[in-house]
Amino acid sequence: MQPWIAPSILSADFARLGEEVSAVLDAGADVIHFDVMDNHYVPNLTIGPMVCKALRDYGITAPIDVHLMVKPVDRIIPDFADAGASIITFHPEASEHIDRTLQTIREHGCQAGLVFNPATPLHYLDHVMDKLDVILLMSVNPGFGGQSFIPSTLDKLRQVRQRIDASGRDIRLEVDGGVNVNNIGEIAAAGADMFVAGSAIFNQPNYADVIQQMRQKISQ
Ligand code: DX5
Ligand code: ZN
Repeated sequence: MQPWIAPSILSADFARLGEEVSAVLDAGADVIHFDVMDNHYVPNLTIGPMVCKALRDYGITAPIDVHLMVKPVDRIIPDFADAGASIITFHPEASEHIDRTLQTIREHGCQAGLVFNPATPLHYLDHVMDKLDVILLMSVNPGFGGQSFIPSTLDKLRQVRQRIDASGRDIRLEVDGGVNVNNIGEIAAAGADMFVAGSAIFNQPNYADVIQQMRQKISQ
């Protein structure tokens, strides 16, 4: 699969969000990563479906990858689908019925994914591989941008890559947290094909330069 670079708008200037999202897309981003935090499942509070809809109304047509860090999960899914989400991922610990939540996402016309925190075991994949479009490995503990990549994620990525290849299904392997130009090469080599980066992109003056450097490292 073509690698996807997904800027996390958590590090964007929220006062100019439409412009910021247009700018990273013009700079070569493939997908917009949209972090939803509820001050309950994670210790921070961000944005919800209204902001997703506002981006669609502003004219953003690129896929929007909604990363739900909320508990409970199910009742917000229809709102995000209506607001224009393309992919919806959630943490298994935040859902009472993982299979049902995955089905709900798909029934609402979105692609579905499970998110694994650094210490969340991979056994949650055991009975749902056929319902997954995306597997997202967190390489930081969720809640904040600008943290450092946790190196043990590389081994976990290799394990998930093997499971995806063995399944024969087209499942994206996404990584989120502390991804930057210096480590994206080894993250790609470990099997990821979708790269979330917040501070590494938005804290630089020239988004196109960073995204181009990231693509170079991925393809090396
Ligand atoms: C963390 C979020 C990430 C975060 C990544 O809980 O899920 O998407 O924005 O930010 P960086 O790339 O700065 O680590
Ligand atoms: Zn995220």
